[in-house]
Amino acid sequence: MLLHTGERVRHPHANVPPSTSRQRPVRLVTASSVSPASAGDVDQRLAALRCPYCRGTLEVHDVPTPAEGRGRWGLLRCSCREHPLIDDIVILNDGSLGHMSEADAGVVLPGPSVADVVARLREGRTSTVLSTLLVRPPAPHRLSGRRIPRWVATASPIAREMARLRRPLIGAVLRRRRDTMTAERWLHLTYRRTALPGDLYNHFFMRFGQPRMLAALALLEGMPDGPIVDLCSGYGHLLHTLGTTRPAIAVDQSFLSLWVSRWYVAPHALHVCADANRTLPLRDGAATSAVCSDAFCYLSDLPARAAELVRVAGGGPVVLARLGNVAHAPHEGTEHTVEGWRGMLSALGPVRMWTEDELQATYLSNRTADPTIDGPDLEGGKWLCAAIGDGLAAEAALSDPAPHHRGRLVRNPLYVSDGDDERFAFPSEWYAAENGSLTDLLPGRVDPHHRTPSGPGDLTIVGVPDRYC
Ligand SMILES: C[S@@+](CC[C@H](N)C(=O)[O-])C[C@H]1O[C@@H](n2cnc3c(N)ncnc32)[C@H](O)[C@@H]1O
Ligand SMILES: [Zn+2]
Repeated sequence: MLLHTGERVRHPHANVPPSTSRQRPVRLVTASSVSPASAGDVDQRLAALRCPYCRGTLEVHDVPTPAEGRGRWGLLRCSCREHPLIDDIVILNDGSLGHMSEADAGVVLPGPSVADVVARLREGRTSTVLSTLLVRPPAPHRLSGRRIPRWVATASPIAREMARLRRPLIGAVLRRRRDTMTAERWLHLTYRRTALPGDLYNHFFMRFGQPRMLAALALLEGMPDGPIVDLCSGYGHLLHTLGTTRPAIAVDQSFLSLWVSRWYVAPHALHVCADANRTLPLRDGAATSAVCSDAFCYLSDLPARAAELVRVAGGGPVVLARLGNVAHAPHEGTEHTVEGWRGMLSALGPVRMWTEDELQATYLSNRTADPTIDGPDLEGGKWLCAAIGDGLAAEAALSDPAPHHRGRLVRNPLYVSDGDDERFAFPSEWYAAENGSLTDLLPGRVDPHHRTPSGPGDLTIVGVPDRYC
């Protein structure tokens, strides 16, 4: 995701309101009441994990669940230390549990240290731990949406004070409205009035059906059965779309994203808070495949990161989605030429590459990618995807329903009510610049009575988790 793109994209029928505008999807099917995966799962699934420091096994020791909590709380003991388990989120990190930027390594707000959280759990002082970890500082009203120095919005005393004032609100939401909240509402609470550039609220809220996600799915649908590791899993969108019956391990450094993912988007996954720039806290072969989507370029020492993914996938396929081709602007994070990426990754196994555009077209023709050959015109593409290893299934038709129709069907939130119709409208210039090809993929207007996908390529309807919106 580009935070400083100056690129303008054609969007003929798009109305472009301010970047914080919020479009509500129309419900097409009533939400069923869903109980998240049982907390007892956490114990059984710990076997896939290991302490990233001593590499030892982890054993849970319960602590009382505070009023703010729902899931499992405890201390995970290995031979070198104790790690927090908070509301089903396993924390295998050290240092600060602050908020980092979604798009680079910058700190948004320093948080409590892991050691402090462990001490609070040990002493039973758990009442405000969760709300403290879920607060992100809103920008003061007058600064909201303005380009201001990052430190003012993040590490300054103003930001800390805004976060301190907001904590009781998050605590009250947890105690009184937790079960009726949705991912959409948590995203809104998190990104509304942000002083950071970009339109992160809409980027994440409108992730289902995004062209770059369709491109990744053309590869991911060929992953073998069995557990999958999603590194830098964010809010869990991919894991929902990959199907809720596939065992999954979500790893991210952001406690907040993991927590929203656990309780509102991908409750079936085991959620692990860890730094992807270190040895992963997963056993060799903890899964049969692994993916890192829209995040690899923000990591450091990329050959080591890719090697870790191959290790935890047990030699099964590893998909890296959205790698930047340095030959073309705009630039984002670490980029290489096509041959540069191939040279780096081929030390780990056979490598195939495709452009995102090619994979998107493959997906929309209702096919998975052919894993035996590279896609065409790699040099001409800005965004590339790579697969390491031989284990992707042969090219085939997509499953029925198509992956982006899995879950509860809702109108794609890119449509707004307009008279008797619903009209396609980008929510912000930034979103339009990031997802310009949607103007070619979506009709300008839809009939509100159109509630069942007309076919696998219908993007006017997307499948979302039950507790999404
Ligand atoms: C743009 S989001 C992509 C999320 C998700 N993969 C998706 O496709 O929707 C980038 C994610 O990378 C995570 N991330 C960035 N650096 C990380 C690191 N060093 N360790 C773990 N996660 C990291 C961020 O917290 C964020 O959730
Ligand atoms: Zn240890």
